[in-house]
Amino acid sequence: MCGIVAYAGDRAASPILIQGLRKLEYRGYDSAGIAIHRGSKIEVYKQEGKVANLVESLGDYHGDPVHRGAKVGIAHTRWATHGPPTTANAHPHHAGDGRIALVHNGIIENYRGLKARLESAGHQFSSDTDSEVLAHLVDSYYDGDLLSALSAALKEVEGTYGVACICSDEPQRLLVARRGSPIVIGVGDGETIVASDASAIINHTRQVIYLDDNDIALIDGGRVDIRTLDAVPVQRDMASIDWSADAVEKGGYEHYMLKEIFEQPEAIRNAIRGRVDVERGTAILSGLGLSPRELVEFQRLLIVGCGTSLNAGLVGEYAVEDFAAMLGEVEQAAEFRYRNPIVGSKDLVVAVSQSGETADTLAAVREAIDKGAMVAGLVNVVGSTIAREAGRGVYLHAGPEISVASTKAFTCQVAVLLLVALKLARGRRMSREVGMGIAGEVLRVPELVEKVLESNAAIADVASHFVGYEHMFYIGRGYLFPVALEGALKIKEISYIHAEAYNAAELKHGPIALLDEKMPVVALLNRGPGQEKTVGNVEECRARKAPVLGVITEGDAEAKAACDRVIEVPECSHYIATIVSTVALQLFAYHVARLRGCAIDQPRNLAKSVTVE
Ligand code: F6R
Repeated sequence: MCGIVAYAGDRAASPILIQGLRKLEYRGYDSAGIAIHRGSKIEVYKQEGKVANLVESLGDYHGDPVHRGAKVGIAHTRWATHGPPTTANAHPHHAGDGRIALVHNGIIENYRGLKARLESAGHQFSSDTDSEVLAHLVDSYYDGDLLSALSAALKEVEGTYGVACICSDEPQRLLVARRGSPIVIGVGDGETIVASDASAIINHTRQVIYLDDNDIALIDGGRVDIRTLDAVPVQRDMASIDWSADAVEKGGYEHYMLKEIFEQPEAIRNAIRGRVDVERGTAILSGLGLSPRELVEFQRLLIVGCGTSLNAGLVGEYAVEDFAAMLGEVEQAAEFRYRNPIVGSKDLVVAVSQSGETADTLAAVREAIDKGAMVAGLVNVVGSTIAREAGRGVYLHAGPEISVASTKAFTCQVAVLLLVALKLARGRRMSREVGMGIAGEVLRVPELVEKVLESNAAIADVASHFVGYEHMFYIGRGYLFPVALEGALKIKEISYIHAEAYNAAELKHGPIALLDEKMPVVALLNRGPGQEKTVGNVEECRARKAPVLGVITEGDAEAKAACDRVIEVPECSHYIATIVSTVALQLFAYHVARLRGCAIDQPRNLAKSVTVE
């Protein structure tokens, strides 16, 4: 959510900043801007809309002597929180008659009070944003030393920030800081590239430093000096990015979403590699750091997450009850800390998050830790805040997910959650033999997903029959209910078709009133427990003239006969169908959105990684 890029070194900053913004655009595309030094002032260029608008407004910046001469700069791509997506509200914000410029991710909760104080001291504001207040606050403290001014300002801030700041009086220096919003420092040869995520850095260097909360870094060319806000020097380890620059390119696909859907066999292989012990019928999840005794002593697996990650968590809940006969519960992270949850030392809390930065999930992690629970992260982005604060967990290794609509993260989350459930089950009552069966099934997943992907053209054809509808229902039961939820979420995010998911049995308790020939129903009908009951529900839908699309097991003639159209997926157990059928529904949503001409990778109003509550 919002992207920051900043540069200090020997090269012209503007092209590096613009290239970085393009890589980060998936984090927000309401406006974009850059700030660089021009003589004794800072020049700010910003535009409403996508990075392309900014680039167009800059003209030939490669050839412009101002841009060529500026070796330090900051840039931002915005997802609007405070104030509409206008040019005035775009970052960078400046203060002090162009002396200070700043970009900010996060929310400054006490900005109103700060703004009133600054206004009464004569500061004039030109935007509705909380971020501009921070720029003026820094300016109000500035007395020849940007480091002291920024530290003093940040000490007054309530809320979260990832921030990059420059000052016209200190043209070599770049300052960055974080609290609750990521800042990654890419350390190059005589130069430093800072970004809110590594995808803007990877083209320049693989060596990175992740700032901790309340760190502030003073950067001068390739020199990085990190301190606390109280000016105590601190050392942060250098890490190496282990994915390639290609991972954040489209690689010949029309959209990142399609590329990421097709990456799933490999992503799942990476997620489960070395973690399945078929011989012993169990999972190896050393990152959880739990002794066999601890595993048995937990009374509940509590899973927290948001959106797609929450849907994956629901599969985890079902699996832990099914496999381990242990209480499983999934909680919306956003609600968790506000309802005085009953959680404590007998709970294993698993926070599921692709980005590892989602504010609500992070707040739930903190709440669970405060209440004495054992907390583990199930996170994709290495070094992210949730991964670090949880202190233990399992990385997904799905590779960077750029598409705003999550795909490969979901399937990897489900695969790993199945392994967590298997591990807990084997520590309890599950026999080795049954465990071996589940382990073997999990190992088959990449191949099964490959088979679904082979049906891409057939699914595109099915999708062409559903392009004209404005509403849809998705139904499933048992393990297939989370699939219905995820299928509905995908289609509404990227095609803007209103979709709702119901447990198939719930349909007749009210929603069935909405059914007619304009309301198609997507039914999860994989062969397995409860299938015949869902077929019955499908009959009820068709009796009300609703067109039915069934996701069915290959060759299941009876299920096929119950539907108007079908997508066929390979035979597998229901807990594996959570992955297999979801992939089919990802492709279905993708093709519907494509045929409707939607901006698939950048759906309106959305952004990747929601770092505000
Ligand atoms: C949907 C989607 C969102 C995220 C949610 C949580 O396609 O991407 O619903 O799943 O915002 O994000 P993470 O997993 O990063 O915590």
